Amino acid sequence: MLKNKRTWYTMRKSAMKRVWLSSVLLLAVYYAFVPYGHAGPTAPAPGTAAPETLHKPLIVYYSLTGTTKTIATELASALSCETEQIVSKKYRQYLWKITCVNDQLFDRDDDLAPVTTDLTKYNQLIIASPVWIHTISSPMRTLIKYNGFKNKKVWLVLTNQGNYGAADETSIIKFLNDWGITVKGCYSICTTGKTVQELHQHARLIAQDIAKARNQNKD
Ligand SMILES: Cc1cc2nc3c(=O)[nH]c(=O)nc-3n(C[C@H](O)[C@H](O)[C@H](O)COP(=O)(O)O)c2cc1C
Repeated sequence: MLKNKRTWYTMRKSAMKRVWLSSVLLLAVYYAFVPYGHAGPTAPAPGTAAPETLHKPLIVYYSLTGTTKTIATELASALSCETEQIVSKKYRQYLWKITCVNDQLFDRDDDLAPVTTDLTKYNQLIIASPVWIHTISSPMRTLIKYNGFKNKKVWLVLTNQGNYGAADETSIIKFLNDWGITVKGCYSICTTGKTVQELHQHARLIAQDIAKARNQNKD
């Protein structure tokens, strides 16, 4: 009797496990193949004159958990630049951030909210993004792909947790080059264990370096 009860209990436990694993798998597959658009920037209003190219770079950043935002905000303050935050319309927190992982593994585009700045006014950008699965996050990749950054000069600032190396940097720079973008500099910030003050300090060093390069090249 006791043996039967135990067998029944083991069978129920294993069935529950299978149901749970299948649900996770089904959800992963669903989120991998459900179609998403890319949207993003809205064009300048019709009839507006060709915008003046602004001298200062614009800081364009995406941040899921706030670290890149901290860096971007400090860069903006140190360089006296404007910022534009890229917003994803996808729900990103679901099931251990599975939509982030799937976007990276399946090279999927993000569904971006419209941006508020006229990006065509700037020929220099500082692009700040977290690294997701060894490459630039899907919201920032989508912005780069669809929003005519060709011929713009870009400094990249990539936050990560240390699982990021030279080969990743090379392939990210190649991605931008393939979209006609000139990469003037690429900075990686390992954020693991860093205090907000340390992040600010790191951002200020990067700002100094960018300012120096811009002065030398009279950009
Ligand atoms: C889905 C996902 C994938 C990630 N992949 C990597 C990775 O491949 N290498 C790494 O060093 N950090 C990786 N990270 C860590 C983030 O790059 C890091 O925490 C970053 O500072 C987060 O920036 P945020 O707070 O602005 O979103 C990943 C984070 C997420 C959410």
